[in-house]
Amino acid sequence: MKTEIEELMLDELNSIEQNLISRAQEISKQAYAPYSGFHVGAAVLLENGEILQSSNQENVSFPTGVCAERLVLGYAGANFPNSAPIMLAVVAQRGGEETWAGVSPCGICRQTINEVENRFQKSVTMLFLGPNGLVRRVKGISQLLPLKFDDLKS
Ligand code: THU
Repeated sequence: MKTEIEELMLDELNSIEQNLISRAQEISKQAYAPYSGFHVGAAVLLENGEILQSSNQENVSFPTGVCAERLVLGYAGANFPNSAPIMLAVVAQRGGEETWAGVSPCGICRQTINEVENRFQKSVTMLFLGPNGLVRRVKGISQLLPLKFDDLKS
């Protein structure tokens, strides 16, 4: 399988995509990241038009901390079990910096996104903001997690 990761500038995205990125930027300002200083924001668009947001929430016991993506997708699944997440924007900023850092989901979050796709039988389009207005657009988790384990039945 050939991996396709599109690279675009922020102003090349449509208004729905741009809006989702600004919602992620907005919530990243409220990250609780005293240990890493890496402030992440994630915003998810559901099929019903609802937009949900979350930041990362760290813990003095480091592995207890939760990534922004996993929190927002968990909230979506718990509160909107009948509406598929169709788009996810992720942004990050280091404390004290104005620029946006490059970010892309960790392995556990990739597996979480995979579960969401399986649950709703819909692929999730992902947008990752990087420095200087560069956005990586990825359609479907298979692009980020090839040869994934996802079926106990086969
Ligand atoms: N983090 C996220 O929230 N999402 C990502 O995609 C990458 C990493 C968080 C975890 C931790 O709180 C901090 O960023 C540094 O790894």
